[in-house]
Amino acid sequence: MKKFLNLGFQPLANSYIKKKNLKKKEEKFKLEVGFNSKNYLVSIINTIPKEKMFNSEYPYKSSESKTMKKSFKDLTRKIKIRYEPKFVIEIGSNDGVFLKNFNKNSIVGVEPCKNLAKITRKKKYKTFSKYWNLKLAKKITSMKKANLIYSANTLSHIQNLDEIFKAVNFALSKNGVLILEDPSLLECIKNVAYDQFYCEHIYVFSTIALKEVLKKFNLEIFDIEHTKTHGGSNRYHIKKKINNIYKIRDSVKKEIKNEIRFGLHKFSTYKKFGLEVKKSKKKLLNIFSKMKKNKNQIIGYGATAKSCTVLNYCKIDTNFIDYFTDTTSYKIGRYLPGSKILIKKYKKLSKKDVDVVFLGAWNFKKEIFDKEKNFIKEGGKFITHIPYPKII
Ligand code: TMP
Repeated sequence: MKKFLNLGFQPLANSYIKKKNLKKKEEKFKLEVGFNSKNYLVSIINTIPKEKMFNSEYPYKSSESKTMKKSFKDLTRKIKIRYEPKFVIEIGSNDGVFLKNFNKNSIVGVEPCKNLAKITRKKKYKTFSKYWNLKLAKKITSMKKANLIYSANTLSHIQNLDEIFKAVNFALSKNGVLILEDPSLLECIKNVAYDQFYCEHIYVFSTIALKEVLKKFNLEIFDIEHTKTHGGSNRYHIKKKINNIYKIRDSVKKEIKNEIRFGLHKFSTYKKFGLEVKKSKKKLLNIFSKMKKNKNQIIGYGATAKSCTVLNYCKIDTNFIDYFTDTTSYKIGRYLPGSKILIKKYKKLSKKDVDVVFLGAWNFKKEIFDKEKNFIKEGGKFITHIPYPKII
């Protein structure tokens, strides 16, 4: 694997700090990203043991956002019409935002974070609080194989892709379909969205890389949809090669062509990206310095894991940002890892309270701008670093 990006020493992105632990030394690791020229996979180089990240304190809940809720609801409607699945497995069921659109007897969730698995179990959905692997796949499908396996924003968090796809291959019926949804590497590179890289995001997938990985398991992509979630994602529809029901659609060829045209198969593209990231940091720091010099009060909006990468890489802390605002109850009252910026409970933005807002949750820009219409009307400003640092 060839390194192309060094994002410095970073804390665990989802380890929000309690006030009483502020003085404690945080564990940090070197965040570097590399490219494997054999299978085109882009991944972080030093991985963290999964138990450190996905435990009973995992703070991320999918159903906290209106955009995500709607996206999952629309998707399940489409899936039911297209595949009529009788038995579904969801890998990474989180708090049930996808699961709950199905009949309780027709779906099983897999969610290693105990605090989240508890939520869906309470709603009577069968949920295994375990990591997805062959052993678990055998257990879940001992009576019947799955017609559909769904996984969003999860497989990119798991290092051993071979184990995952071996288990998928086992659990899926002959004509079953695997739907994967993850941030698109093409969008990430185009948007200089280097904050897609943090400890949990071991991979950011391209179609050409996924195709290579799937090949070993006689699995193939037959359709790709683009979604707006997480700053631009791909939804891959995957089948076993022996399944002749679904023809490979033009969307797959088109996506591969786009990726090749953009150079996702070449190391030089990633090297260039690395340089863009350095420029992005410089520009962002310039904007913050200027704003601060002009006595603007700056806060952050959406204390995301992505912000953790940006803040720590650019060395932005309370020198620039007074506090963050976030709607997630777990995060409120805690401090962002590394930068140690306080997270306060969300309150509608007002020019009376703040001048400038750093958009940590840039992937929800539309939802946030809709919500903060008044602040924008009053002359309030936002700073974003995507696709390049600017004031909006
Ligand atoms: P994500 O980018 O990892 O999905 O996290 C989004 C974070 O942003 C999550 O902590 C909730 C927060 N958020 C708000 O505080 N207000 C909002 O309006 C939205 C859309 C998200």
